[in-house]
Amino acid sequence: MIIALDGPAASGKGTLARQLAAHYGLRHLDTGLTYRAVAAALLARGLPLGDEEVAISVARHLDFGTLDKGLLSSHEIGEAASRIAVLGGLREELVLLQRQFAESGEGAVLDGRDIGTVVCPHATAKLFVTASPEARARRRTDELIGKGFEVDFDEILTDLKRRDERDTTRKDSPLKPAADAHLLDTTEMDIESAFNAAVDIIDSAR
Ligand code: C5P
Repeated sequence: MIIALDGPAASGKGTLARQLAAHYGLRHLDTGLTYRAVAAALLARGLPLGDEEVAISVARHLDFGTLDKGLLSSHEIGEAASRIAVLGGLREELVLLQRQFAESGEGAVLDGRDIGTVVCPHATAKLFVTASPEARARRRTDELIGKGFEVDFDEILTDLKRRDERDTTRKDSPLKPAADAHLLDTTEMDIESAFNAAVDIIDSAR
C-alpha cells in the first residue's frame, strides 16, 4: 500500500503523513526533507542555489538515511529548498531516491508536492491536502515559535504565498492535484478530524 499526500507548505500534510504511517504500520518519507537537505548543504558550503550541476552532485553525495528534520526545519532552508526545487535535473535525481524508498518494502506514506502526479502515480490512495494561506501561516508561525525560532506572522504569510506561487507555476512537476486525488481542505479542521477524514478516504480506496 502506498499513500501519496501532496499539498502546499504547512497544509497539515506532514502531521497527517506521520499519523497515517503509524496507523497503517507503514514507513514514512517527508520528501520536502530531501530538497531541504540539498539546500542546506549548498548554503553551508556557500555554493550557488541556481547551478543544476552543483546541486545534482551534492544530492548524489548526501546520505538520505540520516535526514534530520530538526536540523532542516528553519524557514531559510525551506525558502532555499523551494528555489532549488525548480531545477529539473535535480528533481529527477531526488525522485529516483524517493521511488526507491516507496518501492522497497511493504508499503509507505510519502508526502510532498508531486507524489501523486510524478513520484508514485500508481499510489493506492492520493490525498491533496490544502488550507487557506492564513491558516497555514498561523500553523507555521506557531510551529516555528515552538521550536524556538523568532518569526513574524506577516512575514511567514508573504513567504508562504511566494512559495505557493513558485511551486505551482514551475515548469517541472508543478504543485497540483493528481486527476484521481481526493481533496482535503483542513482550514476548519483540527488534527483529529483531518486524520479521521483521511482514514475514511484511504479505507474506501483500498
Ligand atoms: O514541504 P517542505 O516545506 O519541506 O518543502 C520545501 C520545498 O521543497 C517546497 O517549497 C517545494 O518547493 C520543494 N518540494 C518539492 N517537491 C516535493 C517536496 C518538496 O518541490 N515533493
